[in-house]
Amino acid sequence: MSKLLIEGGHTLSGVINVSGAKNSVVAIIPASILAENNAIIENVPNISDTNDLIDILKLLGVNCEFSDNILKTDTSNIKNMLIPAELSTKLRASYYFMGALLAKYHHAELYYPGGCNIGARPIDIHLKSFEKMGVKITCLDDKYVLDAKHLTGADIELRFPSVGATINIMLAASKADGVTKIRNAAMEPEIVNVAEFLNSMGAKVVGAGTKEIIITGVDKFTNGSVKIIPDRIEAGTYLLAGSLIGKNLTVNNLNPKHLEALISKLQASGVIMDIEDNKITVTSSKKILPINVKTLVYPGFVTDLGQPMQVFLARCNGTSLFEETIYENRMQHIKYLQKMGAKIELNNNIALIKGPCHLHGANVTATDLRAGATLVLAALIAKGITKIDGVKHILRGYDSLPIKLQQVGAKITIIE
Ligand code: UD1
Repeated sequence: MSKLLIEGGHTLSGVINVSGAKNSVVAIIPASILAENNAIIENVPNISDTNDLIDILKLLGVNCEFSDNILKTDTSNIKNMLIPAELSTKLRASYYFMGALLAKYHHAELYYPGGCNIGARPIDIHLKSFEKMGVKITCLDDKYVLDAKHLTGADIELRFPSVGATINIMLAASKADGVTKIRNAAMEPEIVNVAEFLNSMGAKVVGAGTKEIIITGVDKFTNGSVKIIPDRIEAGTYLLAGSLIGKNLTVNNLNPKHLEALISKLQASGVIMDIEDNKITVTSSKKILPINVKTLVYPGFVTDLGQPMQVFLARCNGTSLFEETIYENRMQHIKYLQKMGAKIELNNNIALIKGPCHLHGANVTATDLRAGATLVLAALIAKGITKIDGVKHILRGYDSLPIKLQQVGAKITIIE
C-alpha cells in the first residue's frame, strides 16, 4: 500500500497548474455514450476516477483513447450490459450510467455506486425523479434494474438540490419524449459543463447553472466535444496551501468566479491575494484572523473544501467555528489533525478550532479523498515528517499531486 511521506516547513513558490474538474469529467464520460459515434473530451484529469470510468466504457464496447489529457471515444460498437459491482463500487459517479443508459436504451442495470464514506449518501432523489419520467425500478441485493417502456419528460421538484440527481435527470431527459423541468436544481459549475457537452451533441438543455433547468428531449444525438472546466476544489486546495505556507505561489488555470466563497473567507481572514482572470497568486501571512465557515450548496462554501479549510482555521489567531451541513460523516480526519497537534473540539458536525496551532508530523490515514488533501496541507506546515496512509483516496481526485507540490518546493514523495 503506498504512503505519502511529507517533510513539513518548506515554503511553496512558483506556479501550480490546475487540472480539469473531477466532478465534471465523471459525469461527462458516462454522457459520452450518447454521442452518435465520436466524442472528444479535452482537459481530462489523469486521476483514478477517470480511469475507472473508462474501464466501464470499455466494458460496454466503447473504443477509448486517452492520452495528453484528451479522451476520444467511439461508440460504434457499444452494447448495453450489466455494470458489475467490482466496477460500479469503485466510485460514486458510476451512477451517471443510470441516466445515460436510460436515455440511450431506456434500460440500465448496475450495482449500487461506491465513493467516499462521508455519510449515508442515498440516491432516492435520483430514483424518484426517474420514476416520474416513467422508469420502473427494481433493486435486489444492491443491483438496480431501471426500465422504461416509454421515457417521458416530467416536472420534477427536487427536495434538495442534489448535484448527482440534477445531472442524472439531465442525462435521462435529454432523449426523453417531451419536456422535463427540474426545479430546485443544483447550480454547480460542473452542471453547466455537462449541459454544454450534451448541447454539443444536439441536446436542448437550457438554464443549467440556475435553479430551474428545462430539457427538451431530442431523438438523435450527433458527435460531440467539450473542454473540462478547471477543478475548483483542486484550485482551492492549492490556494489554501499558499495561504498557509506560500510565497508568491501562483495557482494557474482556475476560474476565480467558481471560488468566490473561499476567496471571500480567506480575504476576511486577512490573506492577500492577487486575483487575475485565470490565476491567483497568494503569500502566507502570520496575521490571519479567525473566521466562521459553514458549508452550503453552490454558490455557498463547498463541502469538499470544508475539511482542507480546517487546517487554515487551525492556523488563525483565535477561535474559529466550522460547520458541515451537507454530509453527516465528513469529520473523520479530525482525530488525525488532533494527533498532529490541532486543538479541535468536535460536537456532531460543528468543530471549534482553537488557533494558532503548531502542528507536528505523525503517522496518519486518509479516510476519504478530501480528508487526504487535508492531511497533506497539515503535513506541509507541520514540524517534522508526516506519513499518510490511504493514498489511493487522494489519487482518485488530485492529478499528480506529489509532482505538482514538489515543483513548487514541497518535500513530498510516494513510498510503497
Ligand atoms: C457531488 C460531488 C461531491 C460533492 C457533492 C456536494 C460528484 C461526483 N461529487 O456529490 O464531490 O461533495 O456533490 O457538492 O460530483 N442526497 C440524498 N438523496 C439523493 C442524493 C443526495 O439524500 O438522492 C443527499 C446526500 O446524502 C448529501 C446531499 O444530498 O447529504 C448532497 O448530495 P449530492 O449533491 O447529490 O452530492 P453528490 O452528487 O453525491
